[in-house]
Amino acid sequence: MGVYRIRVSTGDSLYAGSLNQVQLWLVGQHGEAAVETRLRPMQGKEEEFKVDLSEYLGPLLFVKLRKRRLLQDDAWFCNWISVRTPGSSGDEFRFPCYRWVEGDGSGKKMPNFHDSPYHPLPRIQGHTLFEADFSLLDGIKANVILCSQQHLAAPLVMLKLQPDGKLLPMAIQLQLPSSGSPHPPLFLPTDPPMVWLLAKCWVRSADFQLHELQSHLLRGHLMAEVFAVATMRCLPSVHPIFKLMLPHLRYTMEINLRARTGLVSDLGVFDQVVGTGGGGHVQLLQRAGSFLTYRSFCPPDDLADRGLLGSPSFHFTRSWPLAGFPTSLQTREQACHFITMCIFTCTGQHSSVHLGQLDWYTWVPNTPCTMRLPPPTTKDATLETVMATLPNFHQASLQMSMTWQMGRRQPVMVALGQHKEEYFSSAEPKAVLKKLREELAVLDKEIEIRNAKLEMPYEYLKPSLMENSVAI
Ligand SMILES: [Fe+2]
Repeated sequence: MGVYRIRVSTGDSLYAGSLNQVQLWLVGQHGEAAVETRLRPMQGKEEEFKVDLSEYLGPLLFVKLRKRRLLQDDAWFCNWISVRTPGSSGDEFRFPCYRWVEGDGSGKKMPNFHDSPYHPLPRIQGHTLFEADFSLLDGIKANVILCSQQHLAAPLVMLKLQPDGKLLPMAIQLQLPSSGSPHPPLFLPTDPPMVWLLAKCWVRSADFQLHELQSHLLRGHLMAEVFAVATMRCLPSVHPIFKLMLPHLRYTMEINLRARTGLVSDLGVFDQVVGTGGGGHVQLLQRAGSFLTYRSFCPPDDLADRGLLGSPSFHFTRSWPLAGFPTSLQTREQACHFITMCIFTCTGQHSSVHLGQLDWYTWVPNTPCTMRLPPPTTKDATLETVMATLPNFHQASLQMSMTWQMGRRQPVMVALGQHKEEYFSSAEPKAVLKKLREELAVLDKEIEIRNAKLEMPYEYLKPSLMENSVAI
């Protein structure tokens, strides 16, 4: 009974509008009414109209919509529909959608539980010596590129943290000892410069393999995909955790599809120019998969397990094996801990390993994608040995262009917590998001001030540069 004011918001991306007709029904606790007005939603527009209803609907529960195709289907990207109930101080109900409406026929329901109490959340030091261990690469099959055998090493590196905060290598062993073979040599900073340089290049090449496959692809992209699939499959779109997670899953399936079809696929970039390509990369991913643990995805636990809490100079590296992903969540605290882990993996964890690609990988000798000669077993390397070991011109060019494409600051990005979709419509969650944004702005400023004092600024966890999802 009375005049309802309805607003319909259409996305601003290309083709978000539709030439098909859209009809709405308002569904309340006490009845349902068809809205006479037919819409032809326009890209980037908010359309507003009034409807005078004679029946009493009671508190609104749903907006039902039906898109009718005419000659052809024209998909519509609906942001949201809002309805203000009759009276000068009528309540406004916001029904978030943020998805494509395709086809025609059956009515689509857009319920709004208004984040209501009826649907509560489910019960669901001072170390100075470090070791960098790349032994996961031991025994991995090396690539053969254009009939030329490539080579892999499995280095162990001893590093020392100096009082000035620099972490410097003290000793490098490139291969694990094996019975029946002489013990592999230990390379030292006091070795001839080219010998020490070549040993360091080998470590950096091993780091390329583990960084891209274990830290970036597996622990970033593929884990985020697990969260995306689980969220889409298991939660209804009105579930608060669905709404919470969705901004952090944007474009993850798309970019992973590209990785599967262009990077790690048969004849993809790994096969073409990377030492672990040609099957070794799959072997390495499988091996690394058995090292995925719940605690290693939760930074406070991970740092504690690795004895790194309180370390004065620490940037993210890789983790150690433990067990323990929960199979069910019994308390609110457990649910919060788990969802924090999911969101951090999609944002901070991924950014910490993604953003460095441009800085560290475009200078190929710093992180060679493949090595063309076997690891040295003697200490007589020359500049010629180093050059004959490093990637050739073609391999280096592809490494540079790929890492530029992936690692550059993306022209279109959504920074952490800055998504414009409003999945939550009530005041309380909106206030939480507002507070988060204020805290992120303070953190951004603090990092900026800290970076101004550093010779080499560390920006990979700066909120304004961090993607809100695994989108690239
Ligand atoms: Fe990435």
